[in-house]
Amino acid sequence: MHTFDRHAFTDKFRSTQNGIDFLKVTMMGPNAMRISEEMASYLDIQNDMCVLDLGCGCGLSSLLLVQKYGVRVFAADLWISPTENYERFKALGIEDKAIPISVDAAKGLPFANAYFDILFSVDAYHYFGRTTEMLPSLIPYVKKGGYIAVAIPGWQKEPEGGIPQELKPFFSEADAETFHSTVWWKNLWSKTDGIETIDAQEMACCKQSWEEWLTSPNPYATADRGIMEAENGKYFSIIQLIAKTSK
Ligand SMILES: C[S@@+](CC[C@H](N)C(=O)[O-])C[C@H]1O[C@@H](n2cnc3c(N)ncnc32)[C@H](O)[C@@H]1O
Repeated sequence: MHTFDRHAFTDKFRSTQNGIDFLKVTMMGPNAMRISEEMASYLDIQNDMCVLDLGCGCGLSSLLLVQKYGVRVFAADLWISPTENYERFKALGIEDKAIPISVDAAKGLPFANAYFDILFSVDAYHYFGRTTEMLPSLIPYVKKGGYIAVAIPGWQKEPEGGIPQELKPFFSEADAETFHSTVWWKNLWSKTDGIETIDAQEMACCKQSWEEWLTSPNPYATADRGIMEAENGKYFSIIQLIAKTSK
């Protein structure tokens, strides 16, 4: 697949004012629809598959997966209530394929082993997945030969000497703990049994997905304008990690 195909759904969605307005109120960070579409383009997704969308927030990734690929998605999140997502999925007409559910990934998941073809997660895994235990705890839920695909914000390169000076006014210690580089994440995943290949790379949509987020009236987006101006393309990345399960 060519790079120019990787965001066709998102670009079409954003070609109407309704689409733009919908995204403005449902984005919770860099445009998750765009990130999901790019990451999904690296997976062989068939319409009879079942996907766990872990940390789905307001469900932009679930929407993309259902509408573009026709898969069944469990839209699992901690901060956004399943009732809110159910109302949104009904309004979008995808409630038969997108099943909202409340989970805390740090406390274990309420699913059968080998239930999912793909575990998909956008802009959430860095909150709960930084331990050596998390990936091994998730592998059993995915069928052998299935995929765990995660996209997260992080550093282009792990900064030597801590947070760069110009970012310090915006970055709390808690934020900093969640930020790591592609190399750091690949190293963490490499220590895990039960996965075969790891594709770890920076995503092409980094700049555009952040720019789209900053158009949102969400107070968190307004607050992020300062850090994105200070960062100016020098430090941040969106990292894609894809592993194939082997047990
Ligand atoms: C920045 S928001 C991104 C939401 C959505 N994926 C998006 O990109 O628009 C981070 C999401 O991670 C989810 N999250 C954080 N910790 C979690 C946990 N322990 N279990 C499940 N979800 C979690 C939150 O509920 C929140 O919706």
